[in-house]
Amino acid sequence: MASPEPSRKSAHPPLPDIATHLLDWYDANHRDLPWRVPPRHIAAGRKPNPYHVWLSEIMLQQTTVEAVKPYFRAFLERWPDVKALAAADTEDVMKAWAGLGYYSRARKLKACADLVASGSGEFPATEKELLQLPGVGPYTAAAIAAIAFDRPAAVMDGNVERVMSRLFAIATPLPEAKPEIRSRLTTLVPEQRPGDFAQAMMDLGATICTPRRPRCMLCPLRADCLVLGNGDPELYPVRAPKPEKPSRRGAAFVAVTPDGAVLLRKRPEKGLLGGMSEVPTTAWTARIDGDTGPDAAPFPADWRKVGHISHVFTHFALDLAVYRAAVEFEAAPAGHFWASAGNLHGEALPTVMKKAIEAAIPGSTRKPTSIHKRST
Ligand code: ADE
Repeated sequence: MASPEPSRKSAHPPLPDIATHLLDWYDANHRDLPWRVPPRHIAAGRKPNPYHVWLSEIMLQQTTVEAVKPYFRAFLERWPDVKALAAADTEDVMKAWAGLGYYSRARKLKACADLVASGSGEFPATEKELLQLPGVGPYTAAAIAAIAFDRPAAVMDGNVERVMSRLFAIATPLPEAKPEIRSRLTTLVPEQRPGDFAQAMMDLGATICTPRRPRCMLCPLRADCLVLGNGDPELYPVRAPKPEKPSRRGAAFVAVTPDGAVLLRKRPEKGLLGGMSEVPTTAWTARIDGDTGPDAAPFPADWRKVGHISHVFTHFALDLAVYRAAVEFEAAPAGHFWASAGNLHGEALPTVMKKAIEAAIPGSTRKPTSIHKRST
């Protein structure tokens, strides 16, 4: 990749102008999101509901806006406030979360609801206090403080980093550039409407200042942007090269009865996919000679190989050989249980396990009565 050219513009417009340009644009072009109070309602004095803001921010960690929308609506319908979520069964929350990924987030969500509901029942308003809550890191604390409580917090996610690195032509590669980006962002956050400002930044990054083919002609900050006109915005943010993910391999065993029940077990509460359900698998090993054949099955049966699935986790890429065996329904081995054919879709199965079961029994993890199109 070519290096970005150093900027030739030197003076930068007065910083409050940047916030004003952005907020004017947001007033006319903001996205309608189910957890958002639109700026005209904020201007009329309506306050965001901190529970909605917190719930959406936890869901949006590592997940796209489009994927989160139906989950957000479903959670609110079932658990309309933090007390209701605290009173819920953890297992029900895990099942309702299935598909959003990163299940430790759901566990922490529930722990956070329990903590808030057992105290004053109100979310705290400062970043410092929010940071004490389970599942709330620096980004989420800043986002909740800004959006729910209109506090002047620097809300910096990947989208905002991209906007900022272009706006100020920051040539230092990420992640090294983060402190510089943060200090520049802090100078931009306006005293008035910091919550709208944070959301405007997110919308600008998501709809205009996109990673590829940014729509600079429509950008409210085009006159302010140090990269535009001097270099190629697509070259920003500059990134240090990523090391390749290590790979692991193993085998998954799908035992199925004549009426379609599948043998499952629960993963340990702690660690990757903690507390989720899975079909029995071998260990996931980095060894090339790892045991991925039918001999590694949890019990003898007529195991037939049906294929391979792959799945990329945050820290490694996994390849699983998938075996299927037709078995009779009998007492499940210790630590295992049967999920009937009609109930598989309601199991807290992580995506990797859905892939494995689908490879063995196509269509089995989908909701049978669903009239909705499956999201991609
Ligand atoms: N990404 C993270 N938080 C968000 C929010 N509140 N609105 C839109 N996108 C987001």
